[in-house]
Amino acid sequence: MGTMHDVAVLVGSLRKDSLNRKMAHALAELAPAALKLGIVEIGQLPLYNADEDTNPPAAWTTFRERVRAADALLFVTPEFNRSVPGALKNALDVGSRPSGRSAFSGKPGAIVSVSPGALGAFGANHHLRQSLVFLNVPTMPQPEAYVGGADKLFDAAGKLSNEGTRKFLEQFMQAFAAWIAVHSR
Ligand SMILES: Cc1cc2nc3c(=O)[nH]c(=O)nc-3n(C[C@H](O)[C@H](O)[C@H](O)COP(=O)(O)O)c2cc1C
Repeated sequence: MGTMHDVAVLVGSLRKDSLNRKMAHALAELAPAALKLGIVEIGQLPLYNADEDTNPPAAWTTFRERVRAADALLFVTPEFNRSVPGALKNALDVGSRPSGRSAFSGKPGAIVSVSPGALGAFGANHHLRQSLVFLNVPTMPQPEAYVGGADKLFDAAGKLSNEGTRKFLEQFMQAFAAWIAVHSR
């Protein structure tokens, strides 16, 4: 058996019935056997405040340690007002500090953006890429995944029921596995 890679999945929505959370579960199923995906929760993280750096909240420390232990990062996110949801941006800010000790640096990443709208959360996808450049996360450029019309893709049990989308995402995850193999340390 080849090397297994632990992929930390950050979901940009906190909603219980989130389409993005359903997508994260679908991606875990579709991923090649070499990838083990696990959602890392971000909704419990207090807002980043540099005043807390000397005595950080326990939730920040747990999150940073979990991310640090991962081999790779997968972001599954909606778009809020043409950008990254605040909860996800906060998770990036929390994980990036203290300065010089970012939990994200050097870990290969990929983005799947998901929206009921037609544009597939393109704006969030690319604003996230901007932050990931600064965070030194080598983010897979191709294939891009802008999943639109997402309210029509899942069945009543929350399973991805659209065959074309399944096939595309399966190829996406294979490409991500290859990206991780090249870029992981
Ligand atoms: C505050 C807010 C802003 C939103 N802005 C956008 C947007 O800019 N583009 C878009 O495609 N959808 C937008 N939406 C709709 C979301 O795509 C939709 O609520 C989606 O289902 C959220 O993802 P989730 O199902 O994973 O929670 C917005 C929703 C909220 C609550």
